[in-house]
Amino acid sequence: MLKNCWAVMDSAWHSAFGKIILFGEHAVVYGVKALAASIPDAVKARVQASESAAALHIPSWSITCELNQEGAEDLLHRMFALICDELGLRDKQFSLELEPNIPTASGLGASAAIAVASIRALNAGFRLGLSDENINQLAFQCEELAHGKPSGLDNTLATYGGLLEYQRSATSVRFAPLSGTQPVQLVVALSGKKGFTADMVAAVRSLKEREPELVQRLFNKIDAMRVAGSKALLEGDLATLGHCFSENHRCLRELGVSCEEIEKVLSVAEKQGVYGAKLTGSGGGGAVILLPQDEPATLLKHLKRAGFESLLVNV
Ligand code: PMV
Repeated sequence: MLKNCWAVMDSAWHSAFGKIILFGEHAVVYGVKALAASIPDAVKARVQASESAAALHIPSWSITCELNQEGAEDLLHRMFALICDELGLRDKQFSLELEPNIPTASGLGASAAIAVASIRALNAGFRLGLSDENINQLAFQCEELAHGKPSGLDNTLATYGGLLEYQRSATSVRFAPLSGTQPVQLVVALSGKKGFTADMVAAVRSLKEREPELVQRLFNKIDAMRVAGSKALLEGDLATLGHCFSENHRCLRELGVSCEEIEKVLSVAEKQGVYGAKLTGSGGGGAVILLPQDEPATLLKHLKRAGFESLLVNV
């Protein structure tokens, strides 16, 4: 009889996108439209036959996650178990290997990219015939494990990539590419502090309960910045785009989701000349996007000298 391990039919690498939110984080949780761009190959995954029970490995982070490990309650275990259960793979023998190229808890969508890359690899490995939308939906369930009531933006970007407008209302989810924009290079700098989405979303919820009018005013301003910023992207008007980023950041600061480390990155960058900048993702740490006025390489060098790691993203 063939062992379960022979069932793996595709061991190629499969990848998922990370993301940067250009406009609308937090507001998107309450139905406001957001605009986000993807980071290619943020996480890669492949599945291989194995002689033992299903396990997930992330060699570069020294993580091994066995499906049947007693008492393992961390997020990665719960995500892996959910994926295996939903795909009917709990009894299969395989090794799922992940290669992340972005850090976790940085607002770059690592958890959603881990879910999507894993599901894509398993889908191919076991010829499950899932559509992109099936993959997106299962990754959304994983995001619910990660932070309660996600907007769904991260898993959608992780699945489809591109530059997407995204909106979730009480009854529907709509997303579409924003096409015809001029190419823009953004610098993404890591503040060095981890940001935890669930905590930040809870903090905004609590502020909204205490000060509904203030929060609504900030959400309206964020939406206006998205509209003006999208127009500037279409017209290649970098000065206006940068201004919209900075105004969106001011709103996020008023929502209470910036922090000392993020503000430090902004002040280093401002000295080097940027059209504008904002935190991206949930904040409380994590990453900042910067629109440089000159050669991005110069800004990257200054950030490095100030102790901040950064990368370039083409939008
Ligand atoms: O920090 P991240 O990558 O998890 O992004 C969170 C974005 C929020 O708008 C704050 C939450 C959400 O679910 O959209």
